[in-house]
Amino acid sequence: MRRTLPFLVAAAVIAAGTAWAGEFDLEAAKSTFEKRCSKCHTLDRPLKKNKDRAGWEKTVSRMVRYASGTISEDEAAVIVEYLSRVRGPAQ
Ligand code: HEC
Repeated sequence: MRRTLPFLVAAAVIAAGTAWAGEFDLEAAKSTFEKRCSKCHTLDRPLKKNKDRAGWEKTVSRMVRYASGTISEDEAAVIVEYLSRVRGPAQ
């Protein structure tokens, strides 16, 4: 689990990337993020951070583990993409 999850998230990002066909729905991703990531702490927790994609993959994989089944792989991939776009590395 510990090793396969980041890989699964990466694979889901690639799979979802094909489905998005270059048009990532930022608004839909935002609502998925807000719905899934506000259960245990406020959204402030991720929103005050800056991470690169690998960093967000790592964090979201850990959150998926904590959430034990309530965040799907597809949702995790969408959330990683969303956070990489809006909370990427600080300039
Ligand atoms: C089941 C509860 C739970 C859910 C759902 C959850 N978190 Fe967390 N989160 C935690 C706990 C517990 C911590 C503190 C321990 C830690 O950092 O591992 C934390 C800490 C964090 C941190 C600070 C630590 C870091 O690595 O920067 C971030 C950012 C974060 N969560 C983002 C998210 C995101 C994004 C989501 C949605 C995908 C999410 N969380 C959903 C429980 C949860």
